[in-house]
Amino acid sequence: LGASAWAPLPIAPIAPPLASAFAPELVARGKLLASLGNCAVCHTARNGVPNAGGKQLETPFGTVYSTNITPDAQTGIGSWSLEAFVRAMREGISRDGHRLYPAFPYTSFRNTSDDDLKALYAYLMSQTPVRFRPPETKLPFPFSARPLMAAWNGLFLGRNTFVASATQSAQWNRGAYLVNGLGHCSACHTPRNAFGAEKTGAAFMGGGSAEGWEAPALSSLSNSPVPWSEDELFSYLRFGHAPLHGVAAGPMAPVVADLAALPDSDIRAMANYLASLNPVEANVDTAAMARQYEHASAITGTPSGVGARLFDGACAACHHTGSGPQLFGAHPSLALNTNLHSATPDNLIRVILDGIGSPARPELGTMPAYRDSFNDAQVAELVTYLRQQFAGGKPAWQDVAASVARIRATPVAE
Ligand code: HEC
Ligand code: HEC
Ligand code: HEC
Repeated sequence: LGASAWAPLPIAPIAPPLASAFAPELVARGKLLASLGNCAVCHTARNGVPNAGGKQLETPFGTVYSTNITPDAQTGIGSWSLEAFVRAMREGISRDGHRLYPAFPYTSFRNTSDDDLKALYAYLMSQTPVRFRPPETKLPFPFSARPLMAAWNGLFLGRNTFVASATQSAQWNRGAYLVNGLGHCSACHTPRNAFGAEKTGAAFMGGGSAEGWEAPALSSLSNSPVPWSEDELFSYLRFGHAPLHGVAAGPMAPVVADLAALPDSDIRAMANYLASLNPVEANVDTAAMARQYEHASAITGTPSGVGARLFDGACAACHHTGSGPQLFGAHPSLALNTNLHSATPDNLIRVILDGIGSPARPELGTMPAYRDSFNDAQVAELVTYLRQQFAGGKPAWQDVAASVARIRATPVAE
C-alpha cells in the first residue's frame, strides 16, 4: 500500500450544485435507493430534521453520531463532488480525508454500481440544505485514532465484496445485489468479530444484533420453526408480516417501511436470493408444518400457574390460539414466531416490556407495553411459560429474570 492509501488526500470542495442540475428521473431513482439504504433512518436524530444527522448509534466501541448528509456546504455534504461521495460510499473516507467508522455500512454500500451511486448523489444534492452540526463522535482510545481504520479496511473491507454469479438467474443476482449492497442486511443479520467486522463463511447471515435486539439468522442457522420459503420472505418484506412466521418489529420495522418504495419485482428478487441461503426441502409442506405447531401449542382448559394466568389476562385476547382460523394478521401467532424459538429470550422480553408503538405498516396495528404493569419476576414467569407452551421441545431459557432486568435497564433509543 502506498502512503496515500494510509493517509488519504482531501478531495477539493465544489460549489454546491443547483438542484436543477440533475434530471428529475435520476433524482426519483436516487430517492428510492436512499430508502433501500435506510439513509434517513440513521441520519436523522430523534425528532430531528431528516438526514441532518445526530442520531446516536451505540457500538461496542462507544457512541457514534451520524453526520449531516443534506447539501449544506458548511455542515453537510454540499461541497462534495460525486467523486468524494463515491469514495465515502466505497472506501469509508470523508471528503477531507478522515476515515469513517463502519457503523456507517460502507462495507455493504461499496457493492453499489456507479449508476446507482450517481442517482443517490443526485437525490441527496437536490434536498433542502439544513445547517446543523451534529455532536462530534469521540470514541475512547485507541478507537479515537481514525487512521487505524486503514488497517481495519486492509483486513476486512475486501470480505464483503459481492460478485455476480454466472450460474444463478438474473433475478437471484438482482436480489443478491440489493441485499448485499444498499440493503446492507448483513450489517444486522451477520455476527461480528472482536474488531467489529462481519464474520464470513458459515457465519454469513448467521444472526447478529442491532439496537438491543437480536437480528435472527437468515441462513441455515435460522431458529424459525417453519422454514422460510420465497413466498414467506416476499410477504414479510413487502407487508411486514408473513402468514407462517409473524411480524417485523423493532429495528426491522423501519427497514420494511423503507422497502415500501421498491417495486414488487425487487422485493421478489430479494426473497428469491434469501430463500437460496436456506432452501426449503422439496418434500416439506410448510403450511402443514405450521398447522402442527399451532395444534401442539393450542391452549386447552383453564390456565394454571403464574405465567399461564398472566398470559390469559394480558395477552390471550389478542394472541389467542386454538380457537379457529383467525391466527394471523393482527393476531400474530406466537407458536410460529422465531423469537419464541430463539436461543435467547431477548426479543420476546423487549416486545413485552416496550410493546410495538411504530408498526412497520399501519395495518399491522400496535401492541401495548407492559413495562409499567409487570415487574421483572412476572415478566420472567410469563416468558418461561411462553417458551414452554409455544416452543415445545426447545430447552427452557436460563436466567430469564436476569435478562429481564438487563433489558429493562437498557431502553431502546428511538
Ligand atoms: C446504520 C446506520 C447508517 C446508515 C443506514 C447510513 N449511514 Fe451514513 N453514516 C452513518 C454514520 C454513523 C456516519 C458517520 C461515521 C463516522 O463519523 O465515522 C455516516 C457517514 C456518512 C457519510 C460521510 C459524511 C461525512 O461528513 O464524512 C456519508 C456520505 C453517508 N454517511 C451517506 C449515507 C447514505 C447515502 C446512506 C444511505 C444509502 C447512509 N449514509 C446510510 C450511519 C449510517
Ligand atoms: C437495523 C438492523 C436490521 C437491518 C438493516 C435488517 N434487519 Fe432484518 N431483522 C432485524 C431484527 C431486529 C429482526 C427481528 C424483528 C422481529 O422479530 O420483530 C429482523 C428480522 C428479519 C427477518 C425475519 C427473521 C425471522 O426468522 O423471524 C427477515 C426475513 C429479515 N429481517 C430480513 C432482512 C432483510 C432482507 C434485510 C435487508 C433489506 C434486513 N432484514 C435488514 C434487524 C435488521
Ligand atoms: C391489544 C392487542 C395485543 C395485546 C394485548 C398483546 N399483543 Fe402482542 N402483538 C399485538 C400486535 C397487533 C402485534 C403485531 C404488531 C406489529 O407488528 O405492528 C403483536 C406482536 C407480538 C409479538 C411478535 C413481536 C415480533 O417482533 O415478532 C409477540 C412476541 C407478542 N406480541 C407477545 C405478546 C405478549 C406476550 C402479550 C401479553 C403480555 C401481548 N403480546 C399482548 C397485539 C397485542
